[in-house]
Amino acid sequence: MAEGKTGTTKVLMEETRIFEPPKDLAENCNAWQWGKKKGFKTEKEMRAWCGEHYLEFWDEMAKTYADWFKPYDKVMDDSGMPYFKWFTGGKINVFYNSVERHIKAGKGAKVAYHFIPEPTDQAEKAYTYQEIYETVNKLANGLKGLGVVKGDRVSIYMPMVPETAMAMLACAKIGAIHSLVFSGFSSKGFGDRVDDCQAKVVFTSDGFYRRGKPLPLKPQADEAIKEIGSVKNVIVLKRTGLEVPWNQGKDIWFHELIKDQSAECKTEELDAEDRLFILYTSGTTGKPKGIEHAHGGYCVSPPQTLHWVFDLKEGDVWWCTADVGWITGHSYVVYAPLSLGATSIMYEGSPDFPDFGRWYKIIQDHKVSVFYTAPTAVRMLMKQGEEWPEKYDLSSIRLLGSVGEPLNPEAYMWYRKNFAYDKAPIMDTWWQTETGCYVISPLPMTPCKPGSVAYPLPGFNTTIFDEDGNEVPLGEGGNIVNPTPWPSMLRAFYKDEVRYKKEYWEMYWNTKPGTYLAGDKATRDKDGYWFVQGRIDDVLSVAGHRIANAEVESSLVAHAAVSEAAVIGKPDEVKGEAIVAFVILKKGVSPSDDLAKELKTHVRTTMGPLAIPAGVFFVDDVPKTRSGKIMRRVIKAKALGNPTGDTSALANPEAVDGIPLI
Ligand code: PRX
Repeated sequence: MAEGKTGTTKVLMEETRIFEPPKDLAENCNAWQWGKKKGFKTEKEMRAWCGEHYLEFWDEMAKTYADWFKPYDKVMDDSGMPYFKWFTGGKINVFYNSVERHIKAGKGAKVAYHFIPEPTDQAEKAYTYQEIYETVNKLANGLKGLGVVKGDRVSIYMPMVPETAMAMLACAKIGAIHSLVFSGFSSKGFGDRVDDCQAKVVFTSDGFYRRGKPLPLKPQADEAIKEIGSVKNVIVLKRTGLEVPWNQGKDIWFHELIKDQSAECKTEELDAEDRLFILYTSGTTGKPKGIEHAHGGYCVSPPQTLHWVFDLKEGDVWWCTADVGWITGHSYVVYAPLSLGATSIMYEGSPDFPDFGRWYKIIQDHKVSVFYTAPTAVRMLMKQGEEWPEKYDLSSIRLLGSVGEPLNPEAYMWYRKNFAYDKAPIMDTWWQTETGCYVISPLPMTPCKPGSVAYPLPGFNTTIFDEDGNEVPLGEGGNIVNPTPWPSMLRAFYKDEVRYKKEYWEMYWNTKPGTYLAGDKATRDKDGYWFVQGRIDDVLSVAGHRIANAEVESSLVAHAAVSEAAVIGKPDEVKGEAIVAFVILKKGVSPSDDLAKELKTHVRTTMGPLAIPAGVFFVDDVPKTRSGKIMRRVIKAKALGNPTGDTSALANPEAVDGIPLI
């Protein structure tokens, strides 16, 4: 297993099962159609050539997948490394590519989203490209009327409804920068992010549905922004009809804003490097990182990777179950499928409402052909048993996908069998908020191994380095790195140059400058198949979402009874990791079950339900290094009953004994 931050790792278990893709699929998939045309004899040859000629490759993809108002002068400019620029001189807009060009091509009547409300007594609704085009134009005019101009930030705190995608598109259209915050985040989490990017306008909704009940959202949004002076207006979508507090002069209903607007609005012709969005993700310190993405790159790699990996064809029905508030939603619910003119499912609620058959029913009713979800969801459904999928006809599925954390072989086999009768290959896609698109993944013609993400995709030179910047041999593990840039890469951290350089580029600056350090570890087996082993730093992975240990610790320490906290991830069958907290109380405070409960509630209110610790243990001390860094690795080993290794370098080795088995 991984030792420390930079050590190499070995392959411990060998996976010998290989699933060949259906011949027909392999022969006719989009990726291989291109490969054959280019004269490649094998997939391996194609992947290798595209890596070696990555600029030529992305140049062709930029011309194939995107429409440009003005062609670019240069494919990539690395003169300001590590601030890489792509398609410089080019003028483009992701809204034009996602929606407007389909209208121009006469495809406005095609359904972009089948929206499925969570309550079963509400009607489903199909949104055509034409309808989205018109609403987005009206919304863009509305935003302009509120004084939003190019470069302004707009924060979006909305549920999984088509209007959220439309709010994103309206920002993109006028060159405003959107910043979504998942609606499950707490008020404070939202407020911190609005404050960081100094948003001028906020989108929210009166509420949303969860497990059949309408829950309020607007009060949380109000609470979050009450002291943030940059926010001039709050646009409120009426989704549930719940009563909402109202700030006259500041709040405006979504439907009122668009009511008298023109359905035409000129799309801004933006520089390829103009920013499209900021999305906050967890890093090693408590403060979330505002990852910036650009228009040009987003018009190229997300649609190209979706087209190749999931092989979308004219008649397909695509369902990516991710919430729009996460990167998977940004890339593969909104920009990529729209750009390809695809028809997608957008489901508002949870997989278990009104029962565990809900997702299968949606697949059956809408003949979903390509289905993409997270391992945590697969494990949750697996736990409910095969009787649920057995009740439905899932024969429409021809490809499956997974993202967010390693899909363990057991879940892999269950997913294959129960979602697609062992007929559809699983595309296990590795990527990140920072990459914007799939980086390591099978293609539909790749023979797949359970638990493996196969190989780096065409256009990527992704490899595994040891700490000195040497590629590790097959059979060994190390750090996932990208030695060459790619179009939809992160451009910067919002207003934090120091951390941007430190987190991604510093590690190999002296040995291999310009090498991106992903922050994950992986190994390759003797056949070159990649297995992702998880984060190299202290970031938890709960239900496929990254949560910084430090952020949960800060939340606990903010409670009046707590003096210090250390948080680790405990392997969890369903969620990947469950959060466990070791808490040192202030003098005079006594531990109790009630206090443990109160601390969980406290984390819930400050960070949201995802971050709630599954367990809270009171301890007298936690092991630390001499520089005062909490040794979470040692705590974790002790708590899980594993060898703690050499603890002599610790400032307080005796603290290890006080850590209970969990
Ligand atoms: O650790 C990797 C894990 O999720 C991290 C990225 O998280 P985030 O930026 O929130 O984006 C999630 C959706 C792209 C990665 O650093 N991860 C993502 N995909 C996989 C994965 N781990 C294993 N296998 C995957 N397919």
